[in-house]
Order: sequence, then C-alpha cells, then structure tokens
Amino acid sequence: MDGNGRWATQRGWPRLVGHRRGAERVRQIVRACPDLGVRWLTVYAFSTENWKRSTEEVLGLMKIFARYIEREAGRLSAEGVRMRFIGDRTRLEPRLQALMAGIEARTMANTRLNFTVAINYGGRDELARAAQALARKVAEGRLSPDEVNADELSRALDTADIPDPDLVIRTSGETRVSNFLLWQAAYAEYEFTQTLWPDFTPEELASILDRVAVRDRRFGAVSA
Ligand code: IPE
Ligand code: MG
Repeated sequence: MDGNGRWATQRGWPRLVGHRRGAERVRQIVRACPDLGVRWLTVYAFSTENWKRSTEEVLGLMKIFARYIEREAGRLSAEGVRMRFIGDRTRLEPRLQALMAGIEARTMANTRLNFTVAINYGGRDELARAAQALARKVAEGRLSPDEVNADELSRALDTADIPDPDLVIRTSGETRVSNFLLWQAAYAEYEFTQTLWPDFTPEELASILDRVAVRDRRFGAVSA
C-alpha cells in the first residue's frame, strides 16, 4: 500500500489524512475480496524502515492500527475473516500488541478470508529471525545442520501457516520490491499500478485479477 503521503500532500493535507483514507480503503478491499475469489490477502502496513519517519507520523500510524482493530473486530468476526499479523511485534506498544493478539484469537476459526497485516515487517529481518530460530534449535541439539533446508526455513518464517503469494501488487508507481515477502514471493506475479493507495478500488483489484488469471505460471517447469 504505497502513496498515502503523496495523496494527502497533493491536496495540501497532512500525511496522516492520507493514512486514514488508506485505512478506509483496506476496509473496503477486505470486504470485496471473498466475492472476487480471493481467500488470502496480505497488506504491508508498516515496514522495519518506517521507524525513520517523524514521531508524529509513526505514532499516528500506530493509532490508526489500534483503532482499525478495535472498530473492525465485530465485523471481521461476523464476516468470517481471520485476521493475523506478521513482523516483529516485540517493538510495538504493549497495548497494540494486546489488541493484535486479541483479534487473532477471536477470529482464529474463521475461514472465508485470511487477512494478514504486516506491521514492523521486513523480509530481511524476518529471514534473520528465522535463521536465529534455526540456529537455536541446532545449538540445542533439536535439529541437525543437514536438516536445514528450504522447507524448514519456510516453517521458521512469520508466514509459516500462510501460503506463498500468487500475486504482489504495489500501488503509486514505484517499481521496487522494498523488502516485502522476499522469500515467499519467489514465484509471484508482480503488478505495479500508478494509482495511489487511497484511490485503489475493488474494481481496479478485480481488473488486475482478471489480467493475471490468464497468465501461465510454470514454477520453472515447462507448459503442459
Ligand atoms: C504507504 O504510503 C503507507 C505506509 C507506509 C504506512 P506512504 O506513506 O509510503 O506514502 P508516500 O510514498 O509518501 O506517498
Ligand atoms: Mg511510500
């Protein structure tokens, strides 16, 4: 989700106004996903690099995350959405961490849409934390070095229970990966749109899905 700041700046408004509009879009996209046939949705809300922004913006974003969880809890439960989080949550405020754990527990049995939010997430940080976890297992004698392989590493990632993405969409015209699901997106399709995130509609998502659905994904093999 990129372009919230520019969306606001273009209108002469504070960046946080763009983030609030962005959160509204998330609500709307989450609601639209099941009807579009999307069962797994992961959004990149805050990166391990985003701490470098002003205190005002960082605190404002944290407040938006907390409010989103508080306001949406009832509806997500009613609509069969399972919400969970990836990223290193240990650096977040205890109150936010508690809200995150609460909604994860409350929506755990839901299956209509698996909705994941990446907060304080970075692909490299996630891989480093996974490497640490595996190293600890080896040091404790619970894993042999020869058993460290791609499957074992996948299971040590924050996304252990989440399938690899088929498609990664980045808004706002930037054509970089920026540390998002580095390992998991090995075979993903990438789509870049000029649209700023606060302007990204379910209709645009539907048209991207239509376009991508016809592509032939071979995972390195030859077409049948
Ligand atoms: C993306 O919008 C949202 C978050 C990182 C939370 P930006 O804040 O990156 O918006 P631009 O790139 O400055 O327009
Ligand atoms: Mg940006």
